[in-house]
Amino acid sequence: MLRRFRLFVRGLATNWIGTLGVVLTTSAFLLFLFMEAMRLLGVVTNAYVGLISYLLLPALFILGLLLIPAGWRIYRRRTGRPTRELLSERFTPSLTEGKRAYGSSLVGLIAVLTLVNLLFLAGGGARMLHFMDEPVFCGTACHKVMHPEWETYRRSPHAHVKCVECHVGEGVDALVDAKLNGLWQMVSATFNLYERPIPTPVVNLRPARETCEQCHWPEKFYGDRLRVNPGYAFDRASTPHYSTLALKMNSGTGEHSGTIHWHIAAANEVRYQPASEDRTVMRWVEVRDPRGGYRRYENRRLPAASGEDVRVLDCIDCHNRATHIYEDPEEAVEARIAAGALVRALPYIKREGLAALTGSYADKAAARRGVFNHLQGTYGRQYRAATASLQEELDTAVAVLQATYDRNIHPRMHVDWNPYPDHRGHRNGLGCFRCHNRDMVDEQGEAVSHECTLCHSILAFESPEPFQFLLPVAEKARDRRMHEYLQAEFLRGRR
Ligand code: HEC
Ligand code: HEC
Ligand code: HEC
Ligand code: HEC
Ligand code: HEC
Repeated sequence: MLRRFRLFVRGLATNWIGTLGVVLTTSAFLLFLFMEAMRLLGVVTNAYVGLISYLLLPALFILGLLLIPAGWRIYRRRTGRPTRELLSERFTPSLTEGKRAYGSSLVGLIAVLTLVNLLFLAGGGARMLHFMDEPVFCGTACHKVMHPEWETYRRSPHAHVKCVECHVGEGVDALVDAKLNGLWQMVSATFNLYERPIPTPVVNLRPARETCEQCHWPEKFYGDRLRVNPGYAFDRASTPHYSTLALKMNSGTGEHSGTIHWHIAAANEVRYQPASEDRTVMRWVEVRDPRGGYRRYENRRLPAASGEDVRVLDCIDCHNRATHIYEDPEEAVEARIAAGALVRALPYIKREGLAALTGSYADKAAARRGVFNHLQGTYGRQYRAATASLQEELDTAVAVLQATYDRNIHPRMHVDWNPYPDHRGHRNGLGCFRCHNRDMVDEQGEAVSHECTLCHSILAFESPEPFQFLLPVAEKARDRRMHEYLQAEFLRGRR
């Protein structure tokens, strides 16, 4: 068999084109087997190797397969003789050594080889599709471009959810769409055609109800979510204070009951037309009326004119940062203090940590040095005595802040602090207030509700007491009415 194959190959190598075809096909095939073996043994795991194995090698393989008949055609034209004659000349002497006629033997060989080719291409193709679904591929194959998304993804609650589960979704059309898109992305990454930072909203993201709802669905949201947000003063002790919310999470049955996931309950639909591409200002928003029709709220500050495309509100309109979570520098420092990574025994750690983190640095290496110099310099000079016994804590602070910078800032992609507003609340950017504000009014002039207790009960506001408004209030306290109101609001229905 092997000998016959060799003779067959020699028969195909009609001229240099045919020879090149044979060489390409065979070596791509063998290399692929070799790479797969290495990968299975765990020797190589790099995303670039995947690119070679699953894209480059099959491409060379196919190129080789195309060159072989091309070479044959040229050969035939040069010699000017009919195919049959040429075939018997190139293959007959060797392949008919036995008693069989060359025809059946040649056809048999071609059939076997075609089968092997098809198996190889199908197998390679399937491996390629699978590999391209892996986060390491999406996140690191275009390393520079996706670095910010990869970094934020790896540290998010979705670190074990594949990129494609949110970005591609289910179904063949979704897959084809995504692969075509992916090809374009590779071209644009290679030739530097992409924008930095990558613009949002991602217009071709699958409807969230097809992706997110594979794992989270409206009926699943119930009750309140208690959130104690610690903050710290800029004083020497970085004194803590708390803002505490009970977020009203329910989707309920779809009836108005004052809860956040009401928008996406199966029975409801909210749709809107943004005035700008970034969806931060709304032209109008409509709520489907269960009895038919829509109730419309118009932005009375905008002149009537056409805006962007109409969009049905889904998860992404609030959870646009579900996985690529960029921190605000002040919140980042506060979160590290709350976690005990930055210790409040270091004088003015909030102030100095924030200053070190937000210095202007040319690149990541400069930032590492800058953070180190700032903290070591400040504490070495101004608070030497107070930090004499805290060297280890100081070293940790330097490392923690360097890592925080690394995670959030990506100079090459022009990702600086707060590149993408988070729509989930109303802290950095308008968030919920894009629709919930007094300028979005219906025909009667009634605005979309924006009372402070629509979405959350407020249990403390920048108070040393995490449950400030649940405590008894002093007779003469200045904020007594508000205190009593907020307490009653929270307790209503809970008694
Ligand atoms: C849990 C769902 C989820 C996962 C998993 C996920 N993404 Fe995203 N991604 C999103 C959402 C939501 C957006 C923001 C869409 C918007 O604002 O329009 C986004 C936006 C992006 C953007 C645009 C830039 C930006 O930060 O807004 C890129 C690029 C991106 N994702 C790449 C990736 C890569 C690469 C992976 C895997 C390593 C990944 N995503 C995993 C949900 C996800
Ligand atoms: C493949 C399953 C899967 C998909 C798809 C998915 N998630 Fe998640 N999500 C999870 C898991 C697992 C967690 C972590 C749960 C935990 O930590 O308790 C999570 C957590 C969350 C959280 C809570 C985060 C926090 O701070 O505690 C939010 C919000 C969320 N997902 C929104 C989304 C949105 C929006 C999408 C679509 C863009 C999405 N998820 C898609 C599995 C998924
Ligand atoms: C109108 C805005 C809005 C929409 C639309 C929305 N959410 Fe939420 N969601 C929130 C807010 C606000 C929270 C509370 C966030 C927090 O913990 O700070 C939340 C919390 C969550 C949580 C965490 C639940 C928990 O128990 O901690 C998950 C998971 C989640 N949402 C998934 C989704 C999914 C999936 C969709 C789409 C089907 C969706 N959300 C649509 C605003 C929204
Ligand atoms: C695209 C516009 C839009 C955005 C963005 C939006 N909402 Fe709404 N929301 C509405 C509309 C419209 C209503 C219904 C008003 C009415 O009663 O007719 C509503 C109603 C609500 C209700 C009351 C539901 C009920 O049961 O009656 C809550 C709570 C709420 N939203 C919370 C939020 C939160 C929290 C956010 C931000 C995370 C948010 N919304 C973002 C448009 C929006
Ligand atoms: C349409 C819904 C909605 C309305 C109306 C609303 N909020 Fe909020 N608010 C939120 C959500 C959602 C969050 C949580 C964001 C998060 O998870 O980080 C939040 C967070 C907060 C926080 C905590 C943020 C922090 O810095 O610690 C405070 C304080 C707050 N809101 C106060 C108010 C006040 C005061 C009003 C009235 C002027 C108000 N909210 C109106 C939805 C709303």
